[in-house]
Amino acid sequence: MTLVDHPIIRERLTHIRSVDSATAEFRYALHDVARLMTFEVTKDLETTIIEVETPLKKTDGYDLERPIVLVPILRAGVGMLNGFAEILTEASVGYIGLYRNEETHQPHSYYCKLPANIAEAEVILIDPMLATGGSAADAADELKKAGAERLRFACLIAAPEGVAAFEERHPDIPVFAAALDERLDENAYIIPGLGDAGDRYFGT
Ligand code: PRP
Ligand code: URA
Repeated sequence: MTLVDHPIIRERLTHIRSVDSATAEFRYALHDVARLMTFEVTKDLETTIIEVETPLKKTDGYDLERPIVLVPILRAGVGMLNGFAEILTEASVGYIGLYRNEETHQPHSYYCKLPANIAEAEVILIDPMLATGGSAADAADELKKAGAERLRFACLIAAPEGVAAFEERHPDIPVFAAALDERLDENAYIIPGLGDAGDRYFGT
């Protein structure tokens, strides 16, 4: 796992974690951290050289080798989508809907709509929370089943248990997180975490 550590990200994360942050502050800070994380998450994207003509001379320019597909996991992944899309302006967007059963903590899949170019694209799976790892790993299964070959997963806060579980099921998918927290509690919530990401983002 790559920890995307930066003083500005740490500062924004404090607002996201705080129980005193109201919905608007939570939303803005989550959007902002996603935007800031984009550079690290996409650092190794391949480029092709194309010719560009300046007013003075022809020189090398660069184009991204492959299209980009952003896939937020519903619901809370939506909170990070536009931060990535603000930088990756040409990206297509797909959605995977999953919710955890409150007793078993197992993910339940209820929606999947992916762009047609998923097989040739660089796919970025997005969800703020990597807790048990079940939701992200099931979403990655769905993406692979749909033909995705180049995948990475970006989250805001990861639990050590979730990182281990995800990396065991998908050792080929790089994981990026803005924070690695202590542990899960008995309800499989991340400690210290931020609480329920979907509820805080959507004000439910
Ligand atoms: C949250 C979060 C992840 C999942 C992480 O979603 O957004 O998708 O839990 O937990 P896991 O790693 O243990 O699977 P939730 O199930 O609460 O659904 P919601 O986003 O619709 O609120
Ligand atoms: N989902 C959340 O929204 N928060 C957690 O801490 C764990 C799973």
